[in-house]
Amino acid sequence: MSNLKVDSTPIIDGVQPTSGSLTVPGQTVAGQTAAVIVAHELTKTYRMGTMEVHALCGVTFEIQPGEVVSIMGPSGSGKSTLMNILGCLDVPTSGTYILDGEEVSLLRDDKLAVIRNRKVGFVFQSFNLLPRASAIANVELPLRYSGGGNHRKQRAKEALQLVGLGDRMNHRPNEMSGGQQQRVAIARALVNNPAILMADEPTGNLDSHSGKDIMQLLLSLNRDRGTTVIIITHDATIAAQTQRVIRLRDGELEVSA
Ligand SMILES: Nc1ncnc2c1ncn2[C@@H]1O[C@H](COP(=O)(O)OP(=O)(O)OP(=O)(O)O)[C@@H](O)[C@H]1O
Ligand SMILES: [Mg+2]
Repeated sequence: MSNLKVDSTPIIDGVQPTSGSLTVPGQTVAGQTAAVIVAHELTKTYRMGTMEVHALCGVTFEIQPGEVVSIMGPSGSGKSTLMNILGCLDVPTSGTYILDGEEVSLLRDDKLAVIRNRKVGFVFQSFNLLPRASAIANVELPLRYSGGGNHRKQRAKEALQLVGLGDRMNHRPNEMSGGQQQRVAIARALVNNPAILMADEPTGNLDSHSGKDIMQLLLSLNRDRGTTVIIITHDATIAAQTQRVIRLRDGELEVSA
């Protein structure tokens, strides 16, 4: 529980001294690490018949490699919309998004899918595991899409061991606790060794004890492997464990008081 920054109001109350300099998207200054995420003036407008919903209204920020960042904000403020764009599940209506040095804002669906599979691991509130498949088969799944080579089983096994489920490889989701299912989902998210792990309310369906365990696991993956972790949460105690909080309100970064 270091870096407790959640109760201060700044928009991006960063511990990273480099994160405020956003003149040219993706620009790197000598001696600084290139940001893994550069979001510049991102907007997302959903069209519903004649109505338009402005879910994101020009959002600009950077995330550095190895950071743990939480995204907070009221329901409907655009958190999942932002996560979908950051995770290459969707593209912005306008603005620039550079992921790990590649501009992805303009890519077509097929190219987007390739980048998503290679660079991003997802964890969802409701685990999203295949109900009839064993833990190891669930974890292997992303490797099937990405080729994954001959060592799929071995890699899936290692990922499950990493999340402490070496003894549950052949269990199906309904033969595991919620916390264990979320661990399987985290192993699945990690198996491709992504640059970024994105979690949308990862502890939302768990009791407080399992929620704590999952949070510890995400933090240890960041510490031990250097994975960048982005967590959407409504829970201030979760956000307090991250290094930085990005706050959204009505599709905009909340302005500091
Ligand atoms: N596919 C969609 N089509 C139309 N409108 C959408 C779509 N997805 C989201 N919206 C709208 O965009 C706005 C932002 O939604 P979003 O799901 O990003 O909010 P959120 O911050 O994740 O909320 P929650 O905390 O409830 O999950 C909302 O007004 C929502 O109704
Ligand atoms: Mg949401």
